Amino acid sequence: MSDYLIEVKNLTKRFPIKGGLFGKEVGAVRAVNNISFRIKKGETLGLVGESGCGKTTLGRSILRLIEPTSGEVFFNGEDICKYDSERMRAVRRKMQIIFQDPYASLNPRMTVGAILSEPMEIHKLNTDKEQRKKRLYELLDQVQLPKDALNKYPHEFSGGQRQRVCIARALAVEPEFIVCDEPVSALDVSVQAQVVNLLMDLQKDLGLTYLFIAHDLKVVEYISNRVAVMYLGNMVEVAESHELYGGSRHPYTKALFSAIPQPNPNIKHERIILEGDIPSPMNPPAGCHFHPRCWMAKDECKQSYPGITNQSETHEFKCHNPIQ
Ligand SMILES: Nc1ncnc2c1ncn2[C@@H]1O[C@H](COP(=O)(O)OP(=O)(O)OP(=O)(O)O)[C@@H](O)[C@H]1O
Ligand SMILES: [Mg+2]
Repeated sequence: MSDYLIEVKNLTKRFPIKGGLFGKEVGAVRAVNNISFRIKKGETLGLVGESGCGKTTLGRSILRLIEPTSGEVFFNGEDICKYDSERMRAVRRKMQIIFQDPYASLNPRMTVGAILSEPMEIHKLNTDKEQRKKRLYELLDQVQLPKDALNKYPHEFSGGQRQRVCIARALAVEPEFIVCDEPVSALDVSVQAQVVNLLMDLQKDLGLTYLFIAHDLKVVEYISNRVAVMYLGNMVEVAESHELYGGSRHPYTKALFSAIPQPNPNIKHERIILEGDIPSPMNPPAGCHFHPRCWMAKDECKQSYPGITNQSETHEFKCHNPIQ
């Protein structure tokens, strides 16, 4: 069996734009372009990039919550894009998602007990009443919520506690893989660290594998083994997190990471400010999509999209004129 729990091959998602009298397709948002990557069992792959670059679309396409336009997603070695709805339902139990806004994703009229029971009912887990109760308490314990939380409603909790409820709901069906889509972005900074540490402890205890989407690069560095950088629907660089900070090869990655304040003022730190706006994913620039904003662009960059350069087993990038 392969070491990789998730293998994504040439995944593409286009959102058609319909217009005119007959609803003809007049264009498409190229949200995810031909992306390939793998995640090992027990690993966390961080996913970063500016707003609108396609992170959520990629995360949801892997789970087939959005149907990919083309490409393959292997879970435990099997291409789940070929699965019919029944097989998909069974495998979905193993693949969960946690969202940014814990309040919006919890039904305000359901108690926490009902919220945590629902996925177990759907997947027919712990059907015995006593067993169910035991499992509910176990879940609360795992996310460090008190026992009396079962009879409370989402509004009775703080933001951090609500996110713990969402994590418990994801854990209820014993997943192997969790897409964490900015799970701490909406929380206070002091609470962010607690939730991130909880996710890391759960990973260790339960052997979970994460795709961790975030805006905050410091959080991503802390939680991830490797980090993937997206720009306008493309994955432009993937490396171990410590490599990306000092040794990024793609100019976009360098610019993105140069924006992080450094705690030590004696270390020379060059901040790169990118000029221009992110181009529209409906009409991306020819060649490398980053070239209009790239201070290192050559003629070649305007003409063709760069292929993958494998720098090491864990580090790859797509750039014609990488940083040396
Ligand atoms: N259902 C949809 N229909 C049409 N376009 C969509 C749809 N969902 C997303 N998009 C577009 O796809 C692109 C990628 O969006 P996505 O939400 O995946 O980005 P993101 O990286 O998660 O951004 P953010 O950091 O703001 O969450 C954007 O241009 C967005 O407008
Ligand atoms: Mg998003």
